[in-house]
Amino acid sequence: MSEVRAGDAFPVFGTEDLERQLHVFAKDAVSAYRREKTRARELEHALGTLQQAYLETIRSMAFVVEAKDAYTGQHLERCRVYGVRLLEELGIAEEYPDAQYGFLLHDAGKVGVPERILSKPGPLTAAEWRVMRTHPLIGYQMLASIPFLQNAAELVRSHHEMFDGSGYPEGLRRDEIPLPARVFAVIDAFDAMTTDRPYRAAMPIERAAAELTRMAGTQFDPDVVAVFLPLCDRLTA
Ligand SMILES: [Fe+2]
Repeated sequence: MSEVRAGDAFPVFGTEDLERQLHVFAKDAVSAYRREKTRARELEHALGTLQQAYLETIRSMAFVVEAKDAYTGQHLERCRVYGVRLLEELGIAEEYPDAQYGFLLHDAGKVGVPERILSKPGPLTAAEWRVMRTHPLIGYQMLASIPFLQNAAELVRSHHEMFDGSGYPEGLRRDEIPLPARVFAVIDAFDAMTTDRPYRAAMPIERAAAELTRMAGTQFDPDVVAVFLPLCDRLTA
């Protein structure tokens, strides 16, 4: 290839040269695009695998915490499935990707509550209730330092708050309560009402829906209940 020097005439490309050059550029662009597409697919796959691993780890943690209660395992998984579905319906699933971990771990703080209180057959005394009511904050402290569990930690801290401010631990009200926790309150109550417990039979879906409606605005966020009610039948089908 001859060297181009100052003063040399700038090489003039003919139409054919330009077409050839454009063809080469186009081929390069296509193969670069294919490479990036493959890479994006690989990254997406790796992310999916990682998220699945997170989910399995969290699920194991949650089941270990609540292993004593045979009912709880299925309840946790149903809460996760219903909760994610409701977040999607509310259009905020992408905003709170780790909320499902919070649905599973909501009672993780019970590891800090003595067994004699957790398993007490009779009603708890006022002092025992004070201890029991520490579990949202204990759970929060367990999770708050884990970067991918920030929303989950907030949900755990607020899962016993009530819309009208009568819940605990902080007596938060309305939108002071993180939205995933307001979602959890609805699905947790719904699942508890519509499944058999050792001490009572499951309630029909229509009655559970009526209960949610009755408590919308006091215990539950009415906007969340309004979006959840049309979903009830489809979730349990
Ligand atoms: Fe709880």
